[in-house]
Amino acid sequence: MHNNAPRHFLSLLDFTPGELHDLIRRASELKRMHYAGEAHTPLRNRTLGMIFEKASTRTRVSFEAGMTQLGGHALFLSPGDTQLGRGEPIEDSARVLSRMVDCVMIRTFEQAKVERFAAHSRVPVINALTDLFHPCQLIADMQTYFEHRGDIRGRTVAWIGDGNNMCHSYINAARQFDFQLNIACPEGFDPQTPVLEPARDRCTLTRDPMQAATGADLVVTDVWASMGQEEEQARRMRAFAGYQVNDALMERANPEALFMHCLPAHRGEEVSASVIDRPDSVVWDEAENRMHAQKALLEMLLG
Ligand code: CP
Ligand code: NVA
Repeated sequence: MHNNAPRHFLSLLDFTPGELHDLIRRASELKRMHYAGEAHTPLRNRTLGMIFEKASTRTRVSFEAGMTQLGGHALFLSPGDTQLGRGEPIEDSARVLSRMVDCVMIRTFEQAKVERFAAHSRVPVINALTDLFHPCQLIADMQTYFEHRGDIRGRTVAWIGDGNNMCHSYINAARQFDFQLNIACPEGFDPQTPVLEPARDRCTLTRDPMQAATGADLVVTDVWASMGQEEEQARRMRAFAGYQVNDALMERANPEALFMHCLPAHRGEEVSASVIDRPDSVVWDEAENRMHAQKALLEMLLG
């Protein structure tokens, strides 16, 4: 029998702060078990449908390997090979797929599309990146911070660059994990007001990246042109000149500051090679933790 009211993960605000903390604790525990070679297969005979309308390396592989490790199976569904790409309504796709699989992960453009899918799904739906949010990345980022430095509560995070989906999820994380977020964006690339406004007590917005980085415990950036913005690349390169995370910027942060980037990165654009490849850059742990964090998420949603 199907669950009448499945739990979804479309934004970090769908879970309580307590649930998010439990999730990252569990992620670290699953990571320890994985390293110890302890088999943990609670999702035997369960299937995750993975709809990708944008490219992916980390998200696809972390969900697929994670499902295998949990004893289940993951199904890669691209619009080019399914009726989704030929115009079958998202609501109908949700009704059909959710009668066959146990969970659905979606990477697409509009946030409204994952919400419409979820509204018609019998099974949990996970946002695996939209133009608005990337919540799965944030649970991995928070896990990574906790593993390296302990609780992020009361710490200062600097977001340098585009007010994009990752920036929006950092704004939500500032609310849920209770940290200060200093955002530095060029004019015209601010985060959206409906996302920022409810977090005004936790966030500052400046045009000065050096000011945002001052005293930061964590410095984060992302590409200047996200998926779907390829034709804006040249204009964005000009607008974001001066927003590179480099050694001079990291000098302003606390001596113990970490650097994160969701990847893929462009060395020499949003981050210098010297920063991404230095020891206090934790981008590889951050990428690996996608798998552990999403295993904890799948276990929680399907448990
Ligand atoms: N960070 C991230 O989501 O990477 P992919 O685009 O490779 O999935
Ligand atoms: N902001 C980037 C993140 C990629 C993981 C994008 O949306 O393309």
